[in-house]
Amino acid sequence: MINVKILTGYPEMFPGGLAYSIIGKALKENIFTIETINLHDFGNDNRKSVDDEPFGGGPGMILRPDVVEKALLSLPNIKNSKSTKLYLTPSGSLLNQKKLGVLAKLDEIIILCGRFEGVDQRAIDILGFEEVSIGDYVLAGGEIAAQVLLEGCIRLIPGVLGHPESLLEESFSSNLLEYPQYTRPKVWEDSLGNKHDVPEVLTSGHHNNIKKWRLNKSVEKTKKIRPDLYIKKKQKQD
Ligand code: 6GU
Repeated sequence: MINVKILTGYPEMFPGGLAYSIIGKALKENIFTIETINLHDFGNDNRKSVDDEPFGGGPGMILRPDVVEKALLSLPNIKNSKSTKLYLTPSGSLLNQKKLGVLAKLDEIIILCGRFEGVDQRAIDILGFEEVSIGDYVLAGGEIAAQVLLEGCIRLIPGVLGHPESLLEESFSSNLLEYPQYTRPKVWEDSLGNKHDVPEVLTSGHHNNIKKWRLNKSVEKTKKIRPDLYIKKKQKQD
């Protein structure tokens, strides 16, 4: 079981997408829990503002460190807790499958969701947040990124996936993209009347050939669209 605490200016965004499908089932079954802490409850003046202008000038607003600390200290037992604290930001270290596997083994994760231009660096350094990004592109805030991270993490908890063997053949553990999949109808006639068959080997019943065909397709696809991954796979082999 993982207890997730989320510091956010937009608590209504949770559980959001995490309430659906197998992750939603895990949430209902208390395999993980989500508690949101509204940063606005810890604002300073009577306007309860949580952000202010950047020193040195520049665009946008910065989340104040005192607000982040107050929100964090409102969590019971936080003083003795060794829980992992993540700050989701495009300038963090890139999230990957290996990191998700590490996170999936934790008892508690605290996530700070940034908005505005960012968070005062002192809050990140002094309160011990690890900066994590979900990819090389910029979102408007960390809330959707937190859901991406949590979805990837929760599905790795034993018992969450209906078919745990799906984990074995996945991309990224092998540094190969997944092979293409097909299902019925065996011959699909599209709306223009063109017929499209399923690759013959898949209906041959010849398991060895199917395995070889799939590996070949995986390698072909990885070389073509993710040459970086293919190089990594090669390097691991030798
Ligand atoms: Cl974690 N946050 C935001 N705002 N943008 C991102 C991101 C996170 N990861 C990639 N882009």
